Amino acid sequence: MDESSNHQSTGSMPYLIGISQILGVAALAVTGTWMSHYRGGFSWSGPLQFNVHPLCMVLGMVFLCGDSLLVYRVFRHETKRATKILHGVLHIMALIISLIGIIAVFQFHKSSSIPDMYSLHSWVGITTFTLYLLQWILGFIMFFVPGVGFAYRTKFKPLHSFFGASLLVAAIASCLLGITEKLLFSIPKDYSKMVPEGILANSLGLLLVAFGAVVVYVLTREEWRRPPLPEEQALSIDFKTLTEGESPTEP
Ligand code: HEM
Repeated sequence: MDESSNHQSTGSMPYLIGISQILGVAALAVTGTWMSHYRGGFSWSGPLQFNVHPLCMVLGMVFLCGDSLLVYRVFRHETKRATKILHGVLHIMALIISLIGIIAVFQFHKSSSIPDMYSLHSWVGITTFTLYLLQWILGFIMFFVPGVGFAYRTKFKPLHSFFGASLLVAAIASCLLGITEKLLFSIPKDYSKMVPEGILANSLGLLLVAFGAVVVYVLTREEWRRPPLPEEQALSIDFKTLTEGESPTEP
């Protein structure tokens, strides 16, 4: 492999990555402002326990998940092992934080005697979270547990990438449903009057959609995929030779 293919042009990718981070941080700041300024702040008990839910879900299932998907595009010249570890660490953080968010809303419902799992938001949300958990477990087994065959990993990878991007989209859809529902619960009479809280929360929805769009765009640009490093290229040729009996010199 020549030098130029390993250092191929990334065009506007660095700018788009920068934009995605600005959008993600803005979404977090807006969620925090909404819950603290308009909804009374955060607590792990009582009515304010609910407010932990949106912040943890936006941070865990949208921002950290999105960033974890971008790792292979951003750190394209680091070793595969280092990039894989960073991808895994971001997903561990995403899983723990979103689990805290899910526990917060279930505990809040229990302590306030609110029925569970009746809304479309809760159905889409729990389906997304369950599939994310499954994706996490399968990803861990396939890519981190030693002894899983290279051929199985190669076959599983496109599925893993597809579900990674799809789950980010599903998480953003869950957030949009949750935002609308929360506004209708909190300001049922004033929402239609374009009050500041409604405008702020609607803007959060737009920021999340824009974040998702930029991340998915970067992920789906074929030419921005991480090129294999020269040593990885050599390893994969060796593997092909071993498994398919091809000569490494064949085209
Ligand atoms: C990926 C992101 C999210 C997921 C997976 C998720 C998941 C859930 C689940 C499973 C419930 C049901 C809890 C129960 O029945 O006891 C719930 C409730 C709720 N969530 Fe979310 N949520 C997410 C983001 C958000 C966001 C950003 C908001 C915005 C404020 C929000 C607002 C609500 C509200 C108001 C409820 C209570 C009413 C209901 O059960 O639908 N959620 N969420």
